[in-house]
Amino acid sequence: MAAESQSGQLLRVNGVDHVIELDPRATLVDVLREQLGLTGTKKGCDRGECGACTVFIDGRRVLACMMLAVAAGGREVTTIEGLSSKDGELHPVQREFLDNDAFQCGFCTPGQVMSATACIAEGHAGSDDEIREWMSGNICRCAAYPQIVAAVAKANGQIGAGTIAGLDLSAASGAGSTS
Ligand code: FES
Ligand code: FES
Repeated sequence: MAAESQSGQLLRVNGVDHVIELDPRATLVDVLREQLGLTGTKKGCDRGECGACTVFIDGRRVLACMMLAVAAGGREVTTIEGLSSKDGELHPVQREFLDNDAFQCGFCTPGQVMSATACIAEGHAGSDDEIREWMSGNICRCAAYPQIVAAVAKANGQIGAGTIAGLDLSAASGAGSTS
């Protein structure tokens, strides 16, 4: 349950506290996009099938279309806007997506990048087959899959398992695919 205040509920996103009115029926993806203006998180299927809405909750990847925003209260939400460093330097996964042309239209890309970052942190990026398996919840309608796998493999060689967006995942158990 979200923390409450006189004027709303607390939602912490990318290290910033927001006190906002939350419709108890609103999904996290809608609140991020429509109330907080964080439109980097995409809404594709809106029913848990495409992965476009992937964000982190306490360092674990979740589908923001399948989660009520109130359930994210008091937890650390990270979106694609929070992945790069404070000075704007791209995360290694973002850099490798660019360098490997791992997108065409780009609509799926934020979700792919978030999921790829988690996949690496979870230790599930040791081979192309493993990457395909653990990224299987992220659909790319432009079929940029070969380049996406290449980008994830190269990023994995740079950063390896254990951390995600500055959060230590070593104590987390059961981190899994978004599929
Ligand atoms: S928009 Fe959430 S899984 Fe497709
Ligand atoms: S780049 Fe177009 S849907 Fe993936």
